[in-house]
Amino acid sequence: MVTINKNYLKLPGSYLFSTIAKKVETYQTAHPEEKIVRLGIGDVTQPLAPAIIGALHKAVDEMSHAETFRGYAPDLGYEFLRSAIAKNDYRDRGCQIEADEIFVSDGAKSDSGNIQEIFGTDNKVAVCDPVYPVYVDTNVMAGRTGEYNKERENFDGVIYMPCLEANGFLPELPAETPDLIYLCFPNNPSGAAITKERLQEWVDYANKTGAVIIYDAAYEAYITEEGVPHSIYECQGARTCAIELRSFSKNAGFTGVRLGFAVVPKELVRDGVSLHDLWARRHGTKFNGAPYIVQKAGEAVYSAEGKAQLKEQVSYYMRNAHYIYHGLKDAGYSVSGGVNAPYIWLKTPQGMTSWEFFDHLLETAHVVGTPGSGFGAHGEGYFRLTAFGSFENTQEAIRRIQAL
Ligand code: MLT
Repeated sequence: MVTINKNYLKLPGSYLFSTIAKKVETYQTAHPEEKIVRLGIGDVTQPLAPAIIGALHKAVDEMSHAETFRGYAPDLGYEFLRSAIAKNDYRDRGCQIEADEIFVSDGAKSDSGNIQEIFGTDNKVAVCDPVYPVYVDTNVMAGRTGEYNKERENFDGVIYMPCLEANGFLPELPAETPDLIYLCFPNNPSGAAITKERLQEWVDYANKTGAVIIYDAAYEAYITEEGVPHSIYECQGARTCAIELRSFSKNAGFTGVRLGFAVVPKELVRDGVSLHDLWARRHGTKFNGAPYIVQKAGEAVYSAEGKAQLKEQVSYYMRNAHYIYHGLKDAGYSVSGGVNAPYIWLKTPQGMTSWEFFDHLLETAHVVGTPGSGFGAHGEGYFRLTAFGSFENTQEAIRRIQAL
């Protein structure tokens, strides 16, 4: 008789953004006349930059000629892209990362969900709370988290590191020693950024305890302040304790194109085994490489025109972030984030729960955001708005919220 992976049954409800999409769809169907402004999921809205479109067209044309046609991509990524990443994202920032330590993928969501596969199921996982749900859910599926605790609204076997106003929304070293530590900076959902000194403490801690840090840097392009690291490899000793995940979704608008990468340094060894080799084995077996045309588009991100155009795109979204932050502050909300990240994190007003505020906002202002409690128990009483809308929609959303 077929049995199923019963760990899946421990997951409460559906994936956060699927739940929200369903709720919004139901509301829109019942109220077709309302113009809903969507600042919920962190999905980009600006078209791909001209340099990227140009590279895509060129690559598509190459596919139409026998001499330049490409079949399967190398499973770890084309050399041209891995070299561009190693140079621009790492060596130019003083980080010693080589092209063959980069594994090109179809995005950071897949990597952040898949990376746990190379670790034993007896590893103890630590996450920030609130947290991007993929880190927890994929560890639940793998059987690494114990049971769901309805009272505490989290999993018994996970170490949660509360990120609250009192600690500047930054995690503190946990009392119990974890094996795997998921960190995301600039942070999704809170928009908080970590300084290099604070991140160095985590690197030192991981090297001391033997833990591995899974560092999600998907939002690094949004950093505006000095002293905030773009990569964990800016910290001394990170090569022996950290895997970094990056995305082309937020810095280059690839949410619908799909491209990302993981960095696994060769010095990273646990249990006597190279994690680089393990991840290469997993990647080679389960992935046939991101499409050639998409990797060509990724290469264009690092061209001079690409860099200039994407800087403008990021500034466009950050103008929204600034607008939301100050618009909410003027309306009396307690707000954070939005300075080094495209997310604004606000306290729900009048003691409303996160979902109550979600419904209130949808029904009265026709604005969609993301309830903080969807990211974890310590997100209760908070709410996330994204800066990824158009400027006009962002202005409209803030006008409506101010009028509540
Ligand atoms: C979010 O809204 O948190 C992100 O868009 C999710 C993602 O990048 O997968």
